[in-house]
Amino acid sequence: MRYIGNKRKLLPFIQEALEQLEIDGGTACDPFAGTASVARRLKTLGFDVTTGDIMTFSHVLQWAYVVVDRPPRFEGLRDLASLDGKPVESVLAALNALPGRPGFVHEHFSPGGAEGERNERMYFTPENAARIDAVRRRIHDWAAAGRLTEDERYVLLAALIEAADRVANTTGIYAACVKRWQPNARRPLRLRRPPLVTGTGRECRAVQGDAHELVDALPTFDLLYLDPPYNTRQYAGYYHIPELIAEGWFDETPALRGKTGLLEDAEKRSDWSRRRRCESAFEELVEAADCRHILMSYNSEGIIPERRIEKVLRARGRPDTYRRLEKPYKRYRSDSDGANRRYSGDRVVERLYYVRIA
Ligand SMILES: C[S@@+](CC[C@H](N)C(=O)[O-])C[C@H]1O[C@@H](n2cnc3c(N)ncnc32)[C@H](O)[C@@H]1O
Repeated sequence: MRYIGNKRKLLPFIQEALEQLEIDGGTACDPFAGTASVARRLKTLGFDVTTGDIMTFSHVLQWAYVVVDRPPRFEGLRDLASLDGKPVESVLAALNALPGRPGFVHEHFSPGGAEGERNERMYFTPENAARIDAVRRRIHDWAAAGRLTEDERYVLLAALIEAADRVANTTGIYAACVKRWQPNARRPLRLRRPPLVTGTGRECRAVQGDAHELVDALPTFDLLYLDPPYNTRQYAGYYHIPELIAEGWFDETPALRGKTGLLEDAEKRSDWSRRRRCESAFEELVEAADCRHILMSYNSEGIIPERRIEKVLRARGRPDTYRRLEKPYKRYRSDSDGANRRYSGDRVVERLYYVRIA
């Protein structure tokens, strides 16, 4: 999905760095996994990966793209039209064929619902919103009836989150919607087969929660890959709609506020996006990690000063192994990057900081 800080385009840079630093396989932890793009690549490179993030939709993507290692068979849905040969495609086809059923997405995030009309929330067309609701409800009902394994549930949820993002009337973040329907928003919602990585035999886990708590609880491991937020934008506010879809809201209505229907979710506000707290959050996390290598992605506009990163890493590991690798990168632009944001150019420098501990 479209995501601030998504490292999909930087995967070759990260992979080259791993080769150059001779870090090849073992156990890895990616506690700020986001869309799971890096964790997924680490799994394909032979690491047993533990992933984390505070966001629920990220947990869904981590589970689907990293934890799942066997192609889902959907045994509990045998009564659906033929599952032979391609069970994932057959189940997705059944979900794609569902008629709309207005629920919380239709109510709050499309002009079709009462809330939407009042607040002009044009995140989804009323048709797509009702179809997102129908699919989300069906996944919930199947799971509640014990017809899905945990892996299967996450695969279907990941397919829905990605499909909803493709038809969202935004430019990539949900802090605002566009005021006219964009071409992507007019296309009908369509779930696609998620790009699973199966048959590797790797043992991967996804644990939702705070990075520090996850890292602190892990026994000795090889690689800590850090990709924390680098500015003061809180992810919980920018991706509240995928978050609500991942959580699923059926019988009660979530307490939403403001023009964009933000979720009251103080717990998901991150210290890594607070100028006064990010440096100590970084120092404490690095201190807590019982690992052999630390590799951190951070860009040239990050709120933790570079001299602090260098100081903390050198102090934690073997100072002579400290490295900084760089790659110029085209900036991620979204609709909030307009009149109120001043950028110095279209390019930022993505950096990787490394230290070897043992
Ligand atoms: C730069 S993004 C990671 C992007 C990811 N590497 C990718 O390729 O998609 C940072 C992530 O950190 C998460 N996050 C913020 N604070 C956190 C915390 N205290 N603990 C765990 N995750 C956190 C955000 O939800 C966000 O997904």
